[in-house]
Amino acid sequence: MSFHFSEENILKINALKKRYPSSKSLSLPCLWMVQYQEGYISLDAMDTISKIIDMPSMEIYRVATFYSMFRLSSSDKLTISLCKTLSCKLCGSDKILKHLKEKEVNIELVECLGSCGTAPVMQINDTFYENLTLETVDKILEELE
Ligand code: FES
Repeated sequence: MSFHFSEENILKINALKKRYPSSKSLSLPCLWMVQYQEGYISLDAMDTISKIIDMPSMEIYRVATFYSMFRLSSSDKLTISLCKTLSCKLCGSDKILKHLKEKEVNIELVECLGSCGTAPVMQINDTFYENLTLETVDKILEELE
C-alpha cells in the first residue's frame, strides 16, 4: 500500500514551501500532516515526504523517531500520553497510570507537558486533560468511547 497526501495537504505543503528558503524545513509540518491524515506515520509516508522535500528518508525517520508525539504504528486503541515528570508524580500520576493500565488504551509516558500547575496531566491527540483524578479519567474515557 502506498501513501498519498490528501489534496488539501498537498495545497498546504505547496503554500508552506514558499515560506521557507529550504524545503527541508517542512519535515515537521509534513510529519504532522501525515499523522493527522492517517493516524500514524508509516515508512511509506516517510518516503513520500522525502521525495516532496528532497531530504533523505533516513533523516525523515530520525526526526520522526526523535519526537515522542509522533506515532509510528497504527492502533485501534486510544493512545494516551501521560506526564511522568516531577509535578505530575507528586500530584498522583502513578495512581492515574495504574488506573489507565486497567483500561483498553495505549499509554505513553512522556516528559513534562508544560502544564505543571494543573498536574497530573495527560494528553489525547491535541487535547490536554488536567487536574486528573481517577473519576475524571473514567469520565473522559467514557466521553471518548
Ligand atoms: S510535570 Fe507534568 S506537566 Fe509538567
